[in-house]
Amino acid sequence: MKILKTKQEVKQQLNGYRKAAQTVGLVPTMGALHDGHLNLVKNAKNMTDVVVVSIFVNPTQFNNPEDLEKYPRRVTGDLALLEKEEVDYVFLPEVEEMYPRPSALTFDFGDLERTLEGAFRPGHFNGVGVVVSKLFHIICPDKAFFGQKDLQQVAIIRRMVDDLSFDVEMVVVPTSREPDGLAMSSRNGRLTSADRKRALILFESLVLARKELLAGKPWFEVQDKISHKFNLEQGVELEYFELVRTKSLELVSEIDISQQNESQEYSICTAANVGDVRLIDNLPI
Ligand code: PAJ
Repeated sequence: MKILKTKQEVKQQLNGYRKAAQTVGLVPTMGALHDGHLNLVKNAKNMTDVVVVSIFVNPTQFNNPEDLEKYPRRVTGDLALLEKEEVDYVFLPEVEEMYPRPSALTFDFGDLERTLEGAFRPGHFNGVGVVVSKLFHIICPDKAFFGQKDLQQVAIIRRMVDDLSFDVEMVVVPTSREPDGLAMSSRNGRLTSADRKRALILFESLVLARKELLAGKPWFEVQDKISHKFNLEQGVELEYFELVRTKSLELVSEIDISQQNESQEYSICTAANVGDVRLIDNLPI
């Protein structure tokens, strides 16, 4: 496994593969890796010839400086995990390498970013768009691997790939969960043991809401019941609990149950603060 720190090194190392018509897979991450990230890596190993994992805590996607400062950084441990997965390259740039100067260009994803996470984290998806397009230009992957856990991120990057004609195939991998259902996240490690138990309310609420919705209960009643459930839980503050169309993220208040198939046309999305840790999760229907 080779560690590449600069764009120049990436160019030197990866050009040969392209000439030999080998496919390159990119797994973009911000480090503090867990099994969810490693599952993306496993998918990349299965589907491409050469796997590059990027680790970069991207400052431009943090709208809250304190959140950026508190974001876990564990590069040595991360590299050991990636070595075990037999990753070919890790792209580990410094901030100055990615942002020699602040970028003047900004992304506006319209309605896609004014809802859910975007509404609570202004500027977040601009930062994601800028850094992911830089990574796509630097690495030139054939396929890029993203987690369904960040459903809005997937919708936004898909749109960016489409609008800007990036020559990359997006592969979306289902959410990896702890045995009790909590979605794996680099932030989970910051939960106190009491909050770790409380955090399960996100997944439990999603499962309950899906069940009731599929049983024909009106969405506003389901939403009310879930808000009430959150109100009763101390130390947990619900930010949103919404039913959306998975691709457009348009908020909806009903689904056509008879049309339900494997297409996962709808998803339920939620975000909540558990103690001082902000968690998100979603469940396709
Ligand atoms: P990060 O939060 O490190 O996540 C990296 C990738 O892992 C994302 O595609 C995310 O959706 C996926 N992931 C995280 N937890 C997961 C889980 N439990 N199951 C499946 N996949 C999971 O997302 C980012 O970094 C950044 O925004 C990035 C795309 C790297 C741009 O900076």
